[in-house]
Order: sequence, then structure tokens, then C-alpha cells
Amino acid sequence: MNSSRKRVLSGIQPTADSFHLGNYLGAVKQWVALQETHDAFFCVVDLHALTVETEPKLFRNRTLLAAAQLIALGLDPVRCTLFIQSHVHEHNQLAWVMECLTGFGEASRMTQFKDKSQKSGSDRTVVGLFTYPILQAADILLYQPQYVPVGEDQRQHIELTRDLSQRFNSRYGETFVLPEAYIIKGSAKVNDLQEPTSKMSKTSDSAAGVIDIMDAPEINAKKIKSSVTDAEREIRFDEKNKAGISNLLTIYASLTGKSISESEADFAGKGYGDFKSGVAEVVTDYFAPVRKRTLELLEDEAGLLKLLKTGSEKAEAVASQTLTKVYDAMGVVPRGK
Ligand code: TRP
Repeated sequence: MNSSRKRVLSGIQPTADSFHLGNYLGAVKQWVALQETHDAFFCVVDLHALTVETEPKLFRNRTLLAAAQLIALGLDPVRCTLFIQSHVHEHNQLAWVMECLTGFGEASRMTQFKDKSQKSGSDRTVVGLFTYPILQAADILLYQPQYVPVGEDQRQHIELTRDLSQRFNSRYGETFVLPEAYIIKGSAKVNDLQEPTSKMSKTSDSAAGVIDIMDAPEINAKKIKSSVTDAEREIRFDEKNKAGISNLLTIYASLTGKSISESEADFAGKGYGDFKSGVAEVVTDYFAPVRKRTLELLEDEAGLLKLLKTGSEKAEAVASQTLTKVYDAMGVVPRGK
């Protein structure tokens, strides 16, 4: 770890049985690159995932699966700090402090909370969903990162984090850096294969539109071959008129490292059937070893937990320093020696 490097921190929820292609191309692929240039902290935010009631065995499996997939996709526990959020207790502790600095109205204005709570009604909305962005602010502020790589949908949560950072500093003295959202540029926006004008998402209407990286190659090949295209014959990037073909070109280009025009050229004069087979082959070849590695990591759970322990220890060293500074600044009496 080189201390002259800028620090980044991000988190991902373990809420599914697999990451999908959109998670990888939209986020994790950039994380893998960032570990080479930045002092990078990444966590599986299991505490955030508790806002959705999940059967305990499934919850446990998904947390380990998320960590194993991140490693299999290229996060190296030596080159970055990779950990499970609940393993570093300071997250909950700083979250409480931040809750005491956040206005009720301010938290009520978070659009993600408003959307989710409106859908389920106030009696079925847990308080944890309300304080979710404050726990996220604590995740970030504990590590004093300059940048927080996130998708556009997280911008408001980063704004809240910045407000809380400044509020704390002005009340209690300079303590936190002001982190910036690093809205991942140049990352591919991957759309649903069945509804190519909307984002690929785990909450999508049909599983047929989502490529799960832990699915068997045959399943993913079939999904790509049945993806929605258009009535033309030309393989050309045109998001407005040819959303399906453009989406497949994006996927192909991102996984091969080719440009869009090189990708178009690879299929010049070919039909949609050949094109889809070509894309399917690239996707399945790319993720077959990732799936295999993930399963190997899960097979040796003790080994996986050991890798993650190194991460929690590195994270805790930073987090506990920050929390001590925070408590000192606020006049919280330290325990006697
Ligand atoms: N809320 C984020 C999401 O759903 C996940 C998250 C939790 C996060 N804590 C974080 C992202 C800290 C960045 C930094 O994507």
C-alpha cells in the first residue's frame, strides 16, 4: 500500500445469488482497475442488506458468495483492502454518531428511501431503511477516502455524506475529509436483454433479461440468443433505434477490450444469429473461469474467511483511529487504561 496514492472506498450489497453483468461492467471491473492506482477499500455491505428480511442460511451464503465473486473477478486481497462490513464494528458506532447529526427531514428527503417506503407502506418499512444512507455515510467517512466510486443512483447518498462531514467538522473541528462521488466514467451501461432500453437490474421483470455470472454457460448463451433486437439486419451501434443490438455490442466490446467500431467490424456482413453466437461465446468464455474460481473459494470457507480477515484487520486499523478522533472531538470519555 502506497500512502501517496489517493484513497477510494466502495461497497456492494450481498442481496442476490449472483452478481449480474451490469454489476460487473458498471462497477466491479472499475474497482479491479482502481486497486492498481489507488489505496482501495472495498466492502461487502452485509449490514445494509439486513434491511431486507432474508432467511439466515441464504443471507450467510450470499455474503460469502459476494466476497468470493469479488475475489474471482479480480479484487486481490493483497492489493486492496477487501472486507465484510459487519466485521469492523466501527461502522455501527460511527453510524450512531452520524444519526445524531442528521435531521429527520433531511433523512426523509432521500429519494431511494421515499421510493422504497412508498412501495411497501410505512408499517412495513423498517427504520433501518430510513437510516440506511447514514450507515453508508459512516462506511465512507471512517476511511477518509477522496473518492467514492458509485453509480449515478447513489449521488444523493454521497451528497448527504458530504453534508455530514462538513457539519461534523464545523461543530467539532476538522476531522473528516470531504469525499467526492466518482461517478464511474467510461464504464459500460448494460441494459436488460429483454427490455434493452432499461438498465440490467436484479429487480427486473424477467430473469431472461439478466446475465448472472454464476449461471451455467448454457443458460447465459440461451439468454443472449433469445435477446430482443430489431427487424433490420445490420449490426450497427445506434442506441436510439437499435437498443438491443447496441447493448450486445457494448457487452462484446467491454469484455473483449475492443472499441465499438472494431466490434461492428468483427461482424460486418454477418446476420443477427451469428452475432448473438459471437457475443454468447465471449460472455461464457469470460465468466466460466470466474464461476469456477468462485466455487473453489467457497469450497474452502476457512481459507476464504482468512483472506477476508486480513482485510478486516487493515480496515479496522484505519476505522478505529477515525472513531477515536471522533469521540475525542465530541468529548466522549475514553475508557480508563
Ligand atoms: N448503497 C450502496 C448501493 O446500493 C451500497 C453501499 C453501502 C455503498 N455503503 C457504501 C457504496 C459505501 C459506496 C460506499 O449501491
